[in-house]
Amino acid sequence: MKMGIFYGSQTGNCEDLCSQVKKELGESEIHNISDVSSDNFEEYDLIILATSTWGSGDLQDDWEMQLDEVKNANLDQKFVAFIGVGDQEGYGDTFCDAVGIIYDAIQGKGFNHIGLWPSEGYEFDNSEAFRNGQFLGLILDVENQDDLSEDRIKSWVKQLHQEMNPLSKTQINEARAEL
Ligand SMILES: Cc1cc2nc3c(=O)[nH]c(=O)nc-3n(C[C@H](O)[C@H](O)[C@H](O)COP(=O)(O)O)c2cc1C
Repeated sequence: MKMGIFYGSQTGNCEDLCSQVKKELGESEIHNISDVSSDNFEEYDLIILATSTWGSGDLQDDWEMQLDEVKNANLDQKFVAFIGVGDQEGYGDTFCDAVGIIYDAIQGKGFNHIGLWPSEGYEFDNSEAFRNGQFLGLILDVENQDDLSEDRIKSWVKQLHQEMNPLSKTQINEARAEL
């Protein structure tokens, strides 16, 4: 299982958080979105797309330039997960909107969307990252909830592993034994 993290970061927050995610994930590779082309996404079985939000609900600048690269990549059968970094107090009307922009750009490309995340514990008025009662991916806020990031990352990475390997070997053997 090859795992790749692709981040866009203006002041380094998303970049730092993605380094922490990489540590938790284990064997994986990390790329600044400004350095990649469509082929790079296709090297991985799990593709983590991470962005901060800027302006008023806008994509981070490098992501803005590179959105077509992921749009044009073949994501069929891939696992795809999202990370959004934003400020729920300062920008509560556009909290982590950039995640929704990337999601909308690649919807329908046949990937297996994992890592959806509950909104409990966050306070915001509106977010394009919030769909059908949950976040499209892990949402992190270093301005207001920096102390929660480490636990959120640990728990999210565990969740990703479970979603990629829904049945452990033991569970499979138990299920077989019952046949
Ligand atoms: C001018 C400005 C605009 C911002 N706009 C948003 C926004 O619309 N939504 C949001 O959730 N966060 C917004 N933020 C907060 C950033 O996303 C946040 O500071 C983030 O940690 C930056 O991460 P980065 O350094 O990886 O780019 C904004 C911050 C600034 C300074």
